[in-house]
Amino acid sequence: MTRKWWHDKVAYQIYPKSFYDSNGDGIGDIPGIISKLDYLQNLGVDIIWLSPCYQSPLADQGYDISDYYNIDPRFGTMEDMEQLISEAKKRNMYILMDLVINHCSDEHEWFQKACQDPDGKYGNFFYLRDKKEGELPTNWRSYFGGPAWDDLPGTDKQYLHVFHKKQPDLNWENPELREEVYKNINWWLDKGLGGFRIDAIINIKKALPLRSYAPDREDGLCSIHSMLQEATGIGTFLEEMRDRTFQKYDAFTVGEVFDEKPEEIQDFIGDNGYFSSIFDFNEALFGGSEKGWYDAKPITPDDYKKCCFEAQAKVKNIGFLSNIIENHDEPRGVSRYIPEGDCCIESKKMLAALNFMLRGLPFIYQGQELGMENAPISSIDEVDDISALNEYENARNAGLSSAEALNVISRFSRDNARTPMQWSDEANAGFTTGTPWLKVNPNYVFINAKAQITDSDSVFNFYKQLIALRKSPVYKETIVYGELEPLWAERHNLMAYYRKGDKTLLVVGNYQKEEQDIVLPAAYKNILLNNYADIAEENLTIRLYGYQVLILEMERES
Ligand code: GLC
Ligand code: CA
Repeated sequence: MTRKWWHDKVAYQIYPKSFYDSNGDGIGDIPGIISKLDYLQNLGVDIIWLSPCYQSPLADQGYDISDYYNIDPRFGTMEDMEQLISEAKKRNMYILMDLVINHCSDEHEWFQKACQDPDGKYGNFFYLRDKKEGELPTNWRSYFGGPAWDDLPGTDKQYLHVFHKKQPDLNWENPELREEVYKNINWWLDKGLGGFRIDAIINIKKALPLRSYAPDREDGLCSIHSMLQEATGIGTFLEEMRDRTFQKYDAFTVGEVFDEKPEEIQDFIGDNGYFSSIFDFNEALFGGSEKGWYDAKPITPDDYKKCCFEAQAKVKNIGFLSNIIENHDEPRGVSRYIPEGDCCIESKKMLAALNFMLRGLPFIYQGQELGMENAPISSIDEVDDISALNEYENARNAGLSSAEALNVISRFSRDNARTPMQWSDEANAGFTTGTPWLKVNPNYVFINAKAQITDSDSVFNFYKQLIALRKSPVYKETIVYGELEPLWAERHNLMAYYRKGDKTLLVVGNYQKEEQDIVLPAAYKNILLNNYADIAEENLTIRLYGYQVLILEMERES
């Protein structure tokens, strides 16, 4: 594996709308981010990924871009963005923007022009089909519910949108479209970005000719996955994009990739892969159902462990996964991966260490470093997330009562991660002096950055220690490049693995509230991290406390 500048970094995701509001309009903004760079530097973050802040009607909170060359005024100006890049640089930090190129907004000029002249140049930027009465071009169900086809306004055609109807899919088969995309990427890289997080990218290659698949719900539609399974040849597009853009800048790129085929890992993230890295979604996807959120099965500690190890085994030393506990599309990890009723400071730290020490690049989502939890909702009217609103309908159609459906939504809604960042115990969690666009989680009075920064036992300071350990000159080589080898894989509610490089580290977490004994295979030399003040041991036996996690440096094997 060729060594790269980003291998030893720590990344942090900002959801701009909910991070910090500098001007009291209730919406987080870029000047707000700039004012918090020191906070991030103090934590130890190197790479910052910003969810989209381009001009957008915000139908899908910015993942619907109407101008790729402008910043949405709600988030600030282009000067603010340039200042953010240069302020980050001063702190040795890199900014990644979100690259949303499977689709744009229906308010983008291209789409407007396609409506005016569907047979002209811009019509071919999209997937358009003649409208036939009582029949759709294909029976695909969009990710956000309902058919993936809608009428192209003012014409006798329909257009494809695998996401929301305000997110028309771009036609990657058209070289002219691809040129426009590359031009935009290079324009941003010239501004000094470190790279991109690449949105929903697997969707850019459609199985051609477009056709219907076997319906998988009573609506007669089929999941987009049915089509994706059949699609081949995405590599041609991704290679071209890499060569024309990222590669020239040695940019860091991380793909939001689902549905990749196992034999393709090398192509995606091997040396000279399409991307630097891809996210590991194995844990987040676990228990998912084609029927929808209401049918999802909860994940147990044993499942969680298995998912992590499976993902690691799949990638091996081919490249680096980007490891996450949560992101803006998922519920809070501590609410999801820690058994109900057990969410506490110790268990949050355990989850943090188990995930952070995996091989790959650690990504922290805003508020994760504080142990932020899912937000309570009392009515569907409080929900903003278009995906959650659709899943609510879906659950109701499947026969769930409104209370049951609301319960499903509160477990999975993307709003859980989108509530404002909890900065302090002041009004609105210190996020804004105005009215926050989305309700703050009432637990901000005791879960907030201000309180945690000064508390040496806080989740925040535990993350800070984890980051410091990853960067320590002594252990860095092993933590970044060392192999991962599971230990006691079959033990119930216990997750343990070695990281083996020039040092041998053992990471072990007791994934339950009851104590549990382990017998170490050999003596340890140092305790590098412990989420308790002490360790109960006798010779090689350690009685782990509930949710205790240890990072031990072991004697080297001969
Ligand atoms: C990705 C984004 C998500 C968005 C979707 C459509 O999955 O992470 O937030 O809704 O793509 O752009
Ligand atoms: Ca603002």
